[in-house]
Amino acid sequence: SNDMSSNELRRAFVGFFESRAHVVVPSAGLIPHHPTAPMFTNSGMMPFVPYFLGEEPAPYKRATSVQRCVRAGGKHNDLDAIGRSPRHLSFFEMLGNFSFGDYFQAEAIPWAWELLTNDAASGGLGLDGDRLWVTCHVSDDDAESIWVDSVGFPRDRIQRLDKDNFWEMGDVGPCGPSSEIFWDYGPDVGPGGGPANPESEHRYVEIWNLVFQRYLRAEDGSLTGLPTPNVDTGAGLERIGAVLAGTASVYEAGDLARLVESAQSVTGHRLGESELGDIALRLIADHTRTMTFLVADGVLPANDDRGYVLRRIIRRAVRFAYLIGVTKAVLPTMVEQCIDLMAPAYPVLNSARDLVLGVIEREEERFGHTLAAGSQLLDSALDEVTDGERMSGSVAFTLHDTYGFPLEVTQEFAELRGIEVDLNAFNAEMTQQRERARAAGKAKGTGSDDVGRYAELLVEHGPTDFVGRDHNEATATVLAVIGDAVVLDRTPFYAESGGQVGDTGTIETPTGRAKVIDTRFGVTGIHRHVIADLVGEILVGQTATASIDVERRLAIRRNHTATHVLHWALRVVLGEHVKQQGSLVGPDRLRFDFSHFDALSDDQIRIIEDLANHEILDNASVRHFETTKAEAVELGAIAFFGDKYGDIVRVLEAGRHSVELCGGTHVRALGDIGPIKIVSESSIGSNVRRLEAVTGFGPIARLRAEESKLADAAAAIGVPVDDLLDGIRKRLADLSELRDEVVSLRRQVASVAAGDLASEAVDGVVVARVEAESRDEVRDLALSLRSQPGIRAVVLGASPGGKGVALVAAVAPDSGLDAGDLISEAVKMVGGGGGKGADLATAGGKDPGQLDAALEYVRAKISPSSAAAASTE
Ligand code: SER
Repeated sequence: SNDMSSNELRRAFVGFFESRAHVVVPSAGLIPHHPTAPMFTNSGMMPFVPYFLGEEPAPYKRATSVQRCVRAGGKHNDLDAIGRSPRHLSFFEMLGNFSFGDYFQAEAIPWAWELLTNDAASGGLGLDGDRLWVTCHVSDDDAESIWVDSVGFPRDRIQRLDKDNFWEMGDVGPCGPSSEIFWDYGPDVGPGGGPANPESEHRYVEIWNLVFQRYLRAEDGSLTGLPTPNVDTGAGLERIGAVLAGTASVYEAGDLARLVESAQSVTGHRLGESELGDIALRLIADHTRTMTFLVADGVLPANDDRGYVLRRIIRRAVRFAYLIGVTKAVLPTMVEQCIDLMAPAYPVLNSARDLVLGVIEREEERFGHTLAAGSQLLDSALDEVTDGERMSGSVAFTLHDTYGFPLEVTQEFAELRGIEVDLNAFNAEMTQQRERARAAGKAKGTGSDDVGRYAELLVEHGPTDFVGRDHNEATATVLAVIGDAVVLDRTPFYAESGGQVGDTGTIETPTGRAKVIDTRFGVTGIHRHVIADLVGEILVGQTATASIDVERRLAIRRNHTATHVLHWALRVVLGEHVKQQGSLVGPDRLRFDFSHFDALSDDQIRIIEDLANHEILDNASVRHFETTKAEAVELGAIAFFGDKYGDIVRVLEAGRHSVELCGGTHVRALGDIGPIKIVSESSIGSNVRRLEAVTGFGPIARLRAEESKLADAAAAIGVPVDDLLDGIRKRLADLSELRDEVVSLRRQVASVAAGDLASEAVDGVVVARVEAESRDEVRDLALSLRSQPGIRAVVLGASPGGKGVALVAAVAPDSGLDAGDLISEAVKMVGGGGGKGADLATAGGKDPGQLDAALEYVRAKISPSSAAAASTE
């Protein structure tokens, strides 16, 4: 065995191809950018898709890379097997070599053979060629001949398969026949018969896939030829590492073995102790890499899309740790070790370290709050399941909704006990919840019952011609009047979309005139002008003059373009992970929601404001144009897959830095925005922050409002505004002087009162009920009484403010009495506690009604003879 470190293996592989004129291309991120791409980068070829498809000329003809990959969603999804299988991973590294219309099978196949079987001196890995098997596609005679004739590979270890030898990136995208290379782990592991034998998948393990990318799979399933034949190979670094290390488990070689060690020390479990423990250790090691790289590449935990997969992975790891009895946080240590281990090969981990740690720590903590309770609920729900029954879907829903257990995680733990979750019931609850949410939204009244009529208008007339980017007024024909809404064939009114609110204004025909109070889409494409204050009649077929409220629209435009500038500034200051989550652009303010894991500091807000205002004052022009989606991507437009855009998109270049897809209305140059001021920053959910800002006249109005508040404040304390701070300080000083005076007066009053009480002493003992504002006041009085000549003991009771009871006992040091003892019974009588202390005891109580009786009790206790006399007072 030859236990290479992961780094050595990476170097050996790319070195081999580098010396064969391949350009070494660094790993791309895990969020792929091609429109056909699946959710995550799942293989080494993904960054090169535009070259395979001929959409872009390849900048090099040959490339080699070590690409980070995640298979945790979509076509290639290995998530469920993680931990149980010694070979499956949700994160792995793919070693690959690529040809873009350059070499083909005749080179690719012999090179693979050489790299695997040559000894180290000739740049190979030194594997025993007799233990390799090969498969080729049923249609691909060329591949088989090359294996036999050029390589000299024995024909009896080559098998021809159909589907298994045809690799596809996803439901759509490049694809082609493949030739796979397998390692034979030997007869101890399983029956013979080669990789074609489905019984022996553990014995023959695929280590390298050579794909001959020649086709494009379209959405309708059809195949078309690619402009050139290409080569795309992928070898799992972890699998080859395991073969070299002489183990069948990828968890026992290279970086992963180190991470399993970390998992052992963090959890205190050892491999081999129990099946569940082993699953947990392997799963934690695997998932740590996945979550670390996903966050580093810009994914944040969320309830949908990529963020959901990430959340599920994090929570699954935490729950597995919990299941083997670990209740402290495990992920921060794991993530740190992963970064230390892998940052040399993936420098992105260095710059993202704080982000990754912060996000994952928080997510673990957040789940930690409900984990124990949720686990209990889950386990007892599973305990209740009788043979052949399913686990309650409504419990699964509660786990999801209240305890933050992703459904898949619940299912998986049910599965561990051979139990299925009642998905129908779960889905029914989900649907109900969605309906409740929808009903809540509908109450706002969008008149959506008329959708059918708007759809008919769309079919009959096509979409409303929106002319509002260039015109504030337009002459149009009335196509329909539906309830309180008017539909025109063309309009300057922007319909609410993309966060920008709808326009207001007027519509006038020869017979009528109405205010437009809002504009929305009846159905996408048909502008629905919501009218009010109709005078006369507006009739179908009439010519109408439609005019928007120009001032309002100008304010909206300023806010909308400002939103783009802010988005840019946020990404500069906080990082590229900042992603727009929603926005509301109105005339008086803009609201921008974005992904970020922490509150913004005052400093950060100031820097963001400064950056945005600088950009605005630079006054660069704003360009808003239509183009193809591909062009937009080329321009670096910020757009996220999952967003729905047609083939033609509208791109907004706001100044020199901000390029985004946007259909809104915008200013012509950044200076038109005027000043921008952030007015609030808050959290609106996990990892989502909200900023509100004002632009144009907004900051001026705020300034004025603040000025007038200051003026009012200054007038209230009678100083000029400029002296406000001094004036306030002086008032505060006066106040504290007065307070001191009050205290000293109180003390004098107390000592007079003490004198009076002292004169009532019987036998040097005073027991009395007094008036006081606080327990401290009672205490002060008791102390000052005790210092009067001839006083041995003082017990005072009061009910400060009529609520509760304060009891204080103070005795002279030579009195032979114990203060605490004096009042211990009395304290109980007033329902209180406290009151220990030899010289001084103070206690509180709840029941003022018992105070007199309690004091009477004390009197009797100290000097039984005086009790009767005092009680007659
Ligand atoms: N694209 C192929 C795979 O992922 C070979 O790189 O297996």
